[in-house]
Amino acid sequence: MRVLFVGDVFGDPGLRAVALHLPDLRPSYDLIIVNGENAHHGKGLSKSAYKKLRNAGADLITLGNHAFDHKDVYELLKTEPIIRALNYPPGTPGQGHWVLEAGGEQLLVLQVMGQVDMGLNLYDPFRTSEALLAEVPHDYALLEVHAEATSEKYALGYYLGDRISALLGTHTHVQTADAGFLPNGAAFQCDVGMTGPIHSIIGGEIESFLGRFLTQRPTPFKAAAGRAMLCATELVLERGRCIQIRPLRWEEPE
Ligand SMILES: [Fe+2]
Ligand SMILES: [Fe+2]
Repeated sequence: MRVLFVGDVFGDPGLRAVALHLPDLRPSYDLIIVNGENAHHGKGLSKSAYKKLRNAGADLITLGNHAFDHKDVYELLKTEPIIRALNYPPGTPGQGHWVLEAGGEQLLVLQVMGQVDMGLNLYDPFRTSEALLAEVPHDYALLEVHAEATSEKYALGYYLGDRISALLGTHTHVQTADAGFLPNGAAFQCDVGMTGPIHSIIGGEIESFLGRFLTQRPTPFKAAAGRAMLCATELVLERGRCIQIRPLRWEEPE
């Protein structure tokens, strides 16, 4: 089974990169999963952004700490293949896992959010994912860890690696050069990277984002424009485990 995971799609540049490049990649994969938490101008997922991601070839959309920033998501979560983090409190709309199928095999995709520096008080991502992995039948499991702290992503990889095929990190928006395998056999990458504006501060317009640091006061948020990139990671799943992990990066021509 060949799976592509596309990192946080950010604003119009991210949607443009997806529209321009994902259809070319589509035939090479059985399943495509896309993080869409920043698709609507950097904050949340609107119906129109959702449609664009699906039209370009996404089978499943995942979210993150921006999951509920756009009101459209409440309706989308009722019917569409979208997941938010599993470790939200009980009663949160939507669900934290989804089972995809390809060639008669089942891929369980689950997302948890970290507890370090995320500005939220969610449940323990370690025990929450552990319980779900034991409960939902699957051939392969892909755990997306939406977290700020590198240490927390590695800790989850070491804690759960013998029960998952791969752990892919998202949220920091910068593609990391550590894609490989942990000693417990799980494929691992700390961050898949962003699909969005290249010249930006993690997707945000440079001037407005700089203001936060320089003034230490809230500044209006603006998504950056300009040339886009697509960051994604390819996983090959075979004989019960992940046998290949390969990060990809595509840049919109000048
Ligand atoms: Fe993000
Ligand atoms: Fe995030």
